Amino acid sequence: MNKASFLLLLALFTFVACRPEPPVDGDDLTDITYAPAGYTVDAPNGFPPMEIPADNPMTVQGIKLGRHLFYDPILSLDSTISCSSCHHSDKAFTDGEVFSVGVEGRRAKRNSMSLVNVGYSWIKTREHNFMWDGRFATLEEQALAPVEDFNEMGENWENVEKKLRNHPEYPTLFREAFGIDNTAEITKYLAAKAIAQFERTINSAKSGYDGDRWSNQYMTPAEQRGFELFLGDAAGNPVAKDAECLHCHSFSDNKALFARNNFTNNGLDSVASFSDFVDKGYGATIGDPTQNGFFREVTLRNIALTAPYMHDGRFKTLREVLDHYATGGHAAPNLAPELSTSTSIQTLTEAEKDDLEAFLHALTDTTIVNRAEWQSPF
Ligand code: HEC
Ligand code: HEC
Repeated sequence: MNKASFLLLLALFTFVACRPEPPVDGDDLTDITYAPAGYTVDAPNGFPPMEIPADNPMTVQGIKLGRHLFYDPILSLDSTISCSSCHHSDKAFTDGEVFSVGVEGRRAKRNSMSLVNVGYSWIKTREHNFMWDGRFATLEEQALAPVEDFNEMGENWENVEKKLRNHPEYPTLFREAFGIDNTAEITKYLAAKAIAQFERTINSAKSGYDGDRWSNQYMTPAEQRGFELFLGDAAGNPVAKDAECLHCHSFSDNKALFARNNFTNNGLDSVASFSDFVDKGYGATIGDPTQNGFFREVTLRNIALTAPYMHDGRFKTLREVLDHYATGGHAAPNLAPELSTSTSIQTLTEAEKDDLEAFLHALTDTTIVNRAEWQSPF
C-alpha cells in the first residue's frame, strides 16, 4: 500500500470512527420534503381552548400519520386489531362490548371508553387523567399501552418499530410529520405522539343540548325537564328536585365536557371493607386502599351511543343506569357523599327518569358518526 492510499484509508477510518452511531439497517429519508404545517384545534363552541403539550405541537402531517396508525392493525400481534377495533366512530369511539375484544379473542379487563373530546380531559398539572382508573397522565403515554397489553394488541414495540421502518409508506409519513433523517429514527415515542395528535382532533359538540347555540336541533320539553333535574339546586330553583348528576358529571367546572373527571365511588357494589372491591380502580393506581372502587367521572356527551355502561359494562341501557342511581347507590365505606346524603335522588319517579333519559339522549351529537376526517384513511 502506498503512502497516499494509507492516508486515505486512515482518513476514512477516522471519519467512520468519529461519526455518530450509524443507524441500524436504516434508509436515508432526506430526499423527502419536510415542511410541517401547523394545525389549530377547532374548539367546539363553549369549550375552552385545548391545552397541547409543548413537546408535541400539532401538525397536519402529524395528524395524518396518527390517523393511519390508529386505523392500522399493523400495531397488533397478528394484524387483526387496530385502535379502531375497540374505538369506532359510529359508537362515539367505543365498541358496544361489555369487555373489548383483543387479539386471538382475548378480552380487555374493562369497558372501552369514548374518545370524543378526549384531548380536553388532559389537565397539565395532574398525574391521573386517563383511563377508568386514571393510570396515565397523558395521551402520549396512553397510546403506548394497547400495543403491549396482552389482552388488546398482544404485540411488542420492538417488532412494531421494525414493521414500521420496513414498511413501504410509514417512513415517508414519519419523515413528513417529524423530520427524521433515517428510518432507524422511527420510534414508538414518535408513533405515540402522532396518535395523540390525531386524538386531539376528535372534538365535537353539536347535540340537541348545544342546539340553541349552533345546530338545528333543540331540546324538547321532556329533555328540558330532564336537564333541570340534572342541574338540581344549581338551576337556581329552590324547589327543583335534584338528581345530583351535576356534581360529578359537572356542568359548572367544565361546563362543556359534562365530566368532572375526578375519581369517586358511585355506589355500584355493596362492600363491607375496602379490600372487597373486585376491581380496585383508582385506589390501586395511587396505592390508597381507602379509594378502592373509585372510577373516573367520565363525560356524558354522546352517552346514548356508548352502551353498555360503567367500567365493567354492567348496565345495558341508560334506564338501568338511572334505576341504579335512584337506589342512592349500594353501601360501601367510601360511597360518594353526593349519593349517600341525597334525599331527592331516591325518590325519582318513573316519569322523572323518562325526562332524565330524554335529556341524556339530547347530549348525542349525530354528526360525529360520519365525520370524514375521523374515518379510516385506508
Ligand atoms: C382491545 C380493545 C382496545 C384496543 C385495541 C385499544 N383500546 Fe383504547 N381502551 C380500551 C379499553 C377497554 C379502555 C379502558 C381501559 C381501562 O380503563 O383500563 C380504553 C381506553 C382508552 C383511552 C382512555 C380514554 C379516557 O378518556 O381516559 C384512550 C385515549 C384509548 N383507549 C386510546 C386507544 C388507542 C390510541 C389505541 C391504539 C393504540 C387503543 N386505545 C386500542 C380498549 C381498547
Ligand atoms: C358521586 C358522583 C356521581 C354522581 C352524583 C353521578 N355519577 Fe354518574 N358516574 C360517576 C362515576 C364515578 C362513574 C363511573 C363509574 C364506574 O364505571 O365504575 C359514572 C358513570 C356514569 C355513567 C356511565 C358512563 C359510561 O361511559 O359508561 C352514566 C350514564 C352516568 N354516570 C350518569 C349519571 C346520571 C344520569 C347521574 C344523575 C342521576 C349521575 N351519573 C350521577 C359518578 C357520579
